[in-house]
Amino acid sequence: MEENEVIKLRQALGCWYEANHRKLPWRENEDPYRIWVSEVMLQQTRVETVIPYYRRFMTRFPSVDSLSDADTETLLKLWEGLGYYARARNLLRSAQILRRDHGGRLPNTRAELSGLPGIGDYIAAAVLSIAFQQPVAVVDGNVKRILARLFMEASAVNDPAAKNRFADLAERLLDHRHPGRFNQAMMELGQRICIPSAPNCVPCPIRENCRAFQNNATADYPQRLPKKTPPLQKMTFAVVMRGKRFLILRRPGQGLLGGLWEFPGEVIQDQPIDEGKVIDMIRRQTGVQATILRRLGNVRHAYTHFRVSADVYLCHYREGDVRLDGHTAYHWIQPEEIRQYAVHKMIHKMMPLLTLPFTAGNPSPTAVTRQ
Ligand code: ADE
Repeated sequence: MEENEVIKLRQALGCWYEANHRKLPWRENEDPYRIWVSEVMLQQTRVETVIPYYRRFMTRFPSVDSLSDADTETLLKLWEGLGYYARARNLLRSAQILRRDHGGRLPNTRAELSGLPGIGDYIAAAVLSIAFQQPVAVVDGNVKRILARLFMEASAVNDPAAKNRFADLAERLLDHRHPGRFNQAMMELGQRICIPSAPNCVPCPIRENCRAFQNNATADYPQRLPKKTPPLQKMTFAVVMRGKRFLILRRPGQGLLGGLWEFPGEVIQDQPIDEGKVIDMIRRQTGVQATILRRLGNVRHAYTHFRVSADVYLCHYREGDVRLDGHTAYHWIQPEEIRQYAVHKMIHKMMPLLTLPFTAGNPSPTAVTRQ
């Protein structure tokens, strides 16, 4: 693309953004803390989903200092349902480092920002450009899709080897006088106009620059490498009842779904399940002896790199004190108390199965016979 075309593109995109951008809560000012939190939430999650979480978060933690005083449990409860919980734990760790080493302020260099937990290329570029007006181009999925169409770029957007190629294209277009506006305009265009299928080219401010539009080829871009179906993991979870209470366990702080609460459970690939394995799993993870009352059902959930199909068993506590192996805390709780705990998505999906035995017309759990 010629330089004069690039200049026109920047102008057209900037004008379009000024006239059309949504009034989102993180656009109310350029407080680096607010921008940082918004970009962390938005990195893996849609704008509409983020808005209410962001508002609650900012009310509860309006500054680096308030966040650095947070306890993980409160933070995870606020984050519950947003997914990718390492983001929340990294925010907390970063806030603590910012308070200790940076006077509670975000630094304005890539080197310092990138040294903080959870801040990679994308977040650093977004914070530097939006909060500090530094000329750094943001490259996310939306931006790559636009670039692929603008330049009819043959590299696949999901090919890690093409990362530098897309970064170079984005740098070439970046408006150095308004980097924050340019980056947000690209994101906004990708979310509302240059959408994945059937892009809405009629109102697009930069269609004159778009090679795919000019060649009637928007449907052919972006190119993608074929995606492998993530492997299916079969799991088994046990709801262990003791009177009206059931047992929940807290996962260790680090790693997948760290710090979240769940039922005893593990990967058991052999299906149909040998029920003795469920009893063994409960004893290993919790130390208690239980018997199976019945299978409650199955829930499925897709994570980024694998899918889970989980069978859920209703079990009855027999004897023994709780001794944990791997988990870090436990509680015997009433069903309605689950709302006070940050649980992961699979457990959310299990809750409707769990309420069934208590509703009218269903026998109480202790009266259900083994099937
Ligand atoms: N997605 C990622 N960052 C964003 C932002 N600042 N505004 C809108 N959508 C986004």
